[in-house]
Amino acid sequence: MSENETQAEVGTTRRGWTASKVLIAVVLTAVVTFGMTALLVNILERRTESAQPNHNVVELSDTTYDPAVWGQNYPQQYESYLRTEEMGLTVYGGSQPIELTPSETDPRSVGSSSRLEDDPRLRIMWAGYAFAKGYTHARGHEWMLEDQRYTVRVLDFNQPGTCLNCHASMPEVYDELGNGDREAGFDTVNAMTYSEATQHASGPVACIDCHDPDTMSLRITRPAFVTGIAALKASEGIEDYDVNRDATTDEMRSYVCAQCHVEYYFDGDAGNRLTFPWAEGNHIDDIWKYYEEDGHIDFEHEITGASILKAQHPEFEIWSQGVHADAGVSCADCHMSYDRSAAQKVTDHHINSPLFDANASCGTCHSDDAETLVNRVVTLQDRFVVSRNQAFDALVSLIYNIEEGMANGVDEDSLDLAREYQNKASFYLDFVYSENSYGFHAPDYTQSVLIDSMDASRMGELALEGASREDLEASEVTQKYAQDIEDRSDLEFLR
Ligand code: HEC
Ligand code: HEC
Ligand code: HEC
Ligand code: HEC
Ligand code: HEC
Repeated sequence: MSENETQAEVGTTRRGWTASKVLIAVVLTAVVTFGMTALLVNILERRTESAQPNHNVVELSDTTYDPAVWGQNYPQQYESYLRTEEMGLTVYGGSQPIELTPSETDPRSVGSSSRLEDDPRLRIMWAGYAFAKGYTHARGHEWMLEDQRYTVRVLDFNQPGTCLNCHASMPEVYDELGNGDREAGFDTVNAMTYSEATQHASGPVACIDCHDPDTMSLRITRPAFVTGIAALKASEGIEDYDVNRDATTDEMRSYVCAQCHVEYYFDGDAGNRLTFPWAEGNHIDDIWKYYEEDGHIDFEHEITGASILKAQHPEFEIWSQGVHADAGVSCADCHMSYDRSAAQKVTDHHINSPLFDANASCGTCHSDDAETLVNRVVTLQDRFVVSRNQAFDALVSLIYNIEEGMANGVDEDSLDLAREYQNKASFYLDFVYSENSYGFHAPDYTQSVLIDSMDASRMGELALEGASREDLEASEVTQKYAQDIEDRSDLEFLR
């Protein structure tokens, strides 16, 4: 498929503008353009002197939903924003275009490659859950709405409107469904079915989702993040945190992304409300504890009957545990670099893998050449994949051994204990598997999570052999085995 075809397809499916809206937009644009011509000539003259682009071609308001209108004021940002449509591979990241045959149910002609085909063990980990049927590599923002509408996880399963919150430009949807009250609109979306909700969406995340139209400063538009980050801050002793009032500009450069690139669940007791499990903190142990107390689970495992939690894209949580977050380096620093040679700051809105241009992405702080930087990343990712494979084999082995134990009459208590460890091993592995940096965002932390996963798999195996909860919960080196060592008088070197 040629670039032009991709463009054309995107052009027709981007935004469901009604005829009247288009007409109003055209008339408005004409009036504004006419009225401003004289001013423009004047401004354009001055622009050549100062190299300052004109930011006031059109008046933006909190109901200017269409990014193309914002693009008239900010053409450079808009052009780079449209490039999120492009696909391409890095060693581990990026995305690979796959040709699809458009059909009634799925009109896409280009998809992204399957992660299930990359690693069939995923189907065993998620047996009994929609993810075992379809899971693709993420691609650019331009695709987010279509990829959600036509994934088999939506086509073959009933999903709630809650899904939409991270896959579309939402201010328009919230306004429409809440009659101007965005919080009310959020509640309405969550309570709908996905097929109802998605009809109200007209395109992917847009300028209005991240920017205040009056000042262009960054802002949070997702109620789930407002609540989630307040709970996280409260766990750190900060009460009444209001992200749009209290966050610094630097923090906002990560928080705008953290509205979506996070672990989440739907709170069934609260009308399927989108919720981030951060009330204990956002380290994986805190999230695990939160889910244990809450009792939330995602599915029953088809092979073992275990209650399993599924993790999703915790980029923000994992980044939070790394050296870059410690040093105040934001998501935007690496994924939205800016051209330092330009007279004015122009942030690259083509959000993608930083490795396509490591000089621009990392060069502000690291003086190594691009090749060296890419190699440093890939070395960390290689090590991550080796450990991830080991943890994965340990989990699959546990799953098969539980299945065998069920067939061979292992007692129910031992099986249940093994199932609990399966859930832990699965969630910890899934947490770093579904995080999309292949360990880069926090290499040491990610390795420690994989060790915890492997440990849980090992505990599960011991449970199948009859070890009790007490045996397993004791930290084995410091407690259980420490006493035994005293008795090992059979060992020459201990006598
Ligand atoms: C220090 C730089 C840096 C920071 C800070 C950073 N990232 Fe990344 N990110 C990377 C690198 C490098 C990769 C790996 C890209 C690859 O393998 O091609 C990556 C990968 C990703 C991917 C997968 C991209 C792909 O092409 O597959 C996503 C999504 C992502 N990051 C989101 C975030 C979010 C959200 C934040 C903030 C919470 C963040 N990143 C912070 C450097 C960074
Ligand atoms: C909290 C925000 C959030 C919610 C809610 C959410 N997603 Fe996503 N989704 C993302 C992010 C971020 C990515 C890209 C990173 C990735 O693929 O791991 C993504 C990727 C995807 C993809 C492409 C990759 C894949 O998984 O195959 C599909 C399809 C998808 N989501 C479907 C859904 C469905 C269906 C729901 C509701 C059950 C849903 N999403 C709810 C944030 C969200
Ligand atoms: C409204 C929710 C939302 C917000 C806000 C958001 N993302 Fe995403 N992001 C997604 C979804 C969904 C996808 C996957 C789209 C798909 O595969 O169709 C994605 C994909 C990506 C990718 C993969 C791109 C590729 O080409 O492989 C990167 C990198 C990324 N996002 C980084 C970021 C960063 C950095 C920010 C903040 C500046 C951010 N995102 C803000 C939802 C979001
Ligand atoms: C996912 C969030 C996100 C979306 C969507 C988004 N931006 Fe931005 N934008 C940012 C971030 C982050 C910055 C850097 C802000 C800072 O450093 O204070 C930025 C900066 C800007 C700036 C300030 C000048 C500059 O380039 O640094 C302008 C103007 C701008 N964006 C325009 C747009 C336009 C126009 C659109 C829609 C076509 C858009 N943005 C969509 C996140 C976003
Ligand atoms: C805004 C500044 C900044 C940017 C941009 C940045 N880094 Fe860093 N990076 C740092 C700082 C600060 C440290 C911590 C240095 C230390 O503590 O010694 C660091 C540490 C690292 C480390 C060591 C990691 C570890 O766990 O010890 C690697 C590797 C790295 N950066 C790679 C990258 C890559 C690749 C990019 C671009 C994708 C990048 N950085 C972008 C500031 C930055």
